[in-house]
Formats: sequence, structure tokens, C-alpha cells
Amino acid sequence: MDGLLLNKIFGAVLATALVIFGVRELSHTLVHPHIPDHPGYAVEVTGSTGTDAGPVEVVKEISLAELLASASLSSGERVAKKCAACHTFDNGGANKTGPNLWNVMGRAAAGADGFGFSSAMSGSGLTWDFETMNQFLAKPKELVPGTAMSFAGIKKPKDRANLLAWIRSKSDAPLDLPVFVAPVEEIVEAAADMVGDAAQDIETAAIASSEAAADGAADLLNSLPNVSGTDPTHEAAVDQAGTEALDEITGGDQ
Ligand code: HEC
Repeated sequence: MDGLLLNKIFGAVLATALVIFGVRELSHTLVHPHIPDHPGYAVEVTGSTGTDAGPVEVVKEISLAELLASASLSSGERVAKKCAACHTFDNGGANKTGPNLWNVMGRAAAGADGFGFSSAMSGSGLTWDFETMNQFLAKPKELVPGTAMSFAGIKKPKDRANLLAWIRSKSDAPLDLPVFVAPVEEIVEAAADMVGDAAQDIETAAIASSEAAADGAADLLNSLPNVSGTDPTHEAAVDQAGTEALDEITGGDQ
């Protein structure tokens, strides 16, 4: 009988210790927040810093990948009207002042068949990926000095992204969009929230389990006929059993 009860104590202590070590180990394993050297958003501060400094304008720069991830094809099609005077975009469309642009994304510059490109364009060595096309459409003459394309450029990043998404769709095999990853801080925050919730759950479970263990131990003490505050021999024996059990779990004095 005594052996069975001691087994129960041992079991309860073991369970509690395991849960407590588990919580510690788990939280150490899970919480390794890697704080990046640079924040996910570049925050550009423009404006005078002199003595007459007016209000400082803070521009939150959104990456092209993020703009493309939420681009609108119908808005892109509207922006493309600016190109229609010189370009067709449909499969097999004619070259006009500028070349037909079906399949242009992912292709080397000056790749349209049967069009007489400038030497600036054919010698540019460019490939039309999203970044390059984005720069070209912002300021054609800046990316390709001497290009024959007389077009000032599209100022708004969002308009360019919508247009890029639409041009991308004008293809036999649309180029993969760049992978958009949410800023690192957001990911770390979300992970920390999840770990916090999990730790809370585990802590609650651990408390419940140690309470159950304590109840078990109290029941045991009550059930032993001769154990009371006035019987030092039995108290010492129970203490001893508890210590041994703990030693066995923690590796004690090996
Ligand atoms: C005024 C006429 C004109 C307009 C407007 C114009 N383009 Fe062009 N585009 C050209 C010409 C001409 C070329 C050939 C450039 C060269 O050879 O240097 C060209 C070349 C290009 C190329 C390179 C094609 C290749 O195969 O390498 C792209 C891409 C392009 N244009 C996109 C656009 C887009 C998108 C718009 C609208 C936002 C636009 N263009 C507006 C005349 C125009």
C-alpha cells in the first residue's frame, strides 16, 4: 500500500517537474527573435534640417514586391492608355512608333521582332524583370540614355506597379511575381504573440498539474494514520521520500 502511494507521489512530482522543465526548454527554443540590422521599411526623411526647418515629411517607402502583390489589373490597363499611341500589347500586334510588347516581361531588351531599335536600347544589355522595367517606366531616358522612346515616365510607384502587373499578363507565360515577404518586425511580433499565448497555456496547465500534485500529496499525508505535525519520524520519512524522488528527477548529486 505504502509503495503504491509513494509511486503516486513520485508520479505527481515527476509530472510537475517535467511540465516545468518543458515550459523552460520550450520558451528557450521558441523565443530566439532575430532582430534585423535594418528595419523592413526604409523611412526616408526629407526636408530642410536648417534653422528654418519646416515640418519634416516622412515618406514610408513601399517595396515594388508589396505593390505588385496588391496590384490592380484594371487600373494597370487604364495606365497603359498612355502607351497606346506608340505600342500594341496584344499577341501578334503591329509595331508602331514603338515595338509590340506582347511577351516583353522576362525578355532581353530590344527583343521584339522586326523593329528597328536604337543602338542605345539594343546595346543596353538589360533584361526586363520587374525592377528594371519599373525603373525604365519611371524615367526611360535615365535608365537607357539615348533611347528613341520619347516618354517622360510615370511618376507614381503605384501606377507603375499596376501597369507592370497588366503588362505581365500580356504573355504566353506570365513571369513569376517577386516574392513579397511581410516586414520582419511584423513576423517577429506575430511569432512572439503566438509563443506568448502558448506559454500562457502551458503555464496554466503547469499550475493545474502542480495543484493536482499538491492535492495528491495532501491526500496521502491525510491517509497515513500516524502522520501528524507532532510525529517528527513520519514527517522526516515523507520529506526524505520527496527529496529522493526529486533527486532522481533532476539528476541530484550525481
Ligand atoms: C511616343 C511613343 C512612345 C510612347 C508613348 C511609349 N513608348 Fe515605349 N517605346 C517607344 C519607342 C520608339 C521604343 C524603342 C526605343 C529604342 O529603340 O530606344 C520603345 C521601347 C519600349 C520598350 C522596350 C521594348 C523592348 O523590346 O526592349 C518598352 C518595354 C516600352 N517601350 C514600354 C512602354 C510603356 C509601358 C509605355 C507606356 C507607359 C511606353 N513604352 C510609351 C515609343 C513609345
